[in-house]
Amino acid sequence: MNPSDEAVLIVEAPASDVRLLRLNRPDKRNAISTALLLAIAEALEEGDATEAIGCLVMTGGDKIFAAGADIGEMAPKLAPEGLADMRPALWRRIRAIRKPIIAAVEGWCLGAGNELMMCCDIAVASREAKFGQPETNLGIIPGAGGGATLARIIGRSRAMAMVLTGKPITAEEALQFGLVAEICDPGAATGRAVELAQEIAARAPLAMQQGKAVVKAVFDQPHNAHLDFERQAFSLLFSTADKKEGVAAFQEKRKPQWKGR
Ligand code: COA
Repeated sequence: MNPSDEAVLIVEAPASDVRLLRLNRPDKRNAISTALLLAIAEALEEGDATEAIGCLVMTGGDKIFAAGADIGEMAPKLAPEGLADMRPALWRRIRAIRKPIIAAVEGWCLGAGNELMMCCDIAVASREAKFGQPETNLGIIPGAGGGATLARIIGRSRAMAMVLTGKPITAEEALQFGLVAEICDPGAATGRAVELAQEIAARAPLAMQQGKAVVKAVFDQPHNAHLDFERQAFSLLFSTADKKEGVAAFQEKRKPQWKGR
């Protein structure tokens, strides 16, 4: 097979209830072309719609998660084409996935790569990973959450420094700022992410989805409305078979058998 025929995204099944998406454009440092973004949205949606899958993992290569949007694709674009771009709709599809997504980051995680990582719900990073929003180096700014979402996650001043200087931060800083949840040895991020994904996939599916929806809403809702949403999601789970089973299993001192209903 000609290397250019290789899929830009490789979808693997490291366990029967986990789907792993591996960005695969090593020659372009996993630059997120529109074709790759579409493949990511479609693969996530497919995992979301497959009942046996409880959790998704997103990873890149050994030395790179992703180097950002595809600069070559972007080079000839002018504002009118930017406005007609399908990318914002693809990002919305990725943000709308209901099942938890774990990011596993080795090496560079830049621009749209960092934005993709922020669409995931938990991130595990190698201690040699580096995170940045270098778009201002090109005379532009982030366009898919590298300003808006980043500021909500790590705070105004730190996000401002990252966006305005374009300088990357280390994995230790990313952990300290709350951008990632865990740091591991180089080469161990995907394995650890799959382990976490299996742990989550083995838990009550509806509680995992509602838990994700409630925590994620911190970006979208004022506090009072957010508290109401949390309470509604909490109440809704009281009518599920899994709540009955979870409570019964605790009282009967046995492991619960989840049904996802
Ligand atoms: N879009 C398109 N192509 C990219 C790319 C991107 N975001 N990032 C890297 N590439 C390409 C390079 O053009 C080069 O292609 P070539 O071999 O055809 O010349 C190839 O990937 C290797 O890049 P190189 O810079 O030599 O790799 P490196 O390992 O030395 O450095 C990075 C890796 C990620 C530090 C560096 O490539 C980089 O800074 N990339 C741009 C990051 C960026 O500005 N992102 C924001 C985009 S809006």
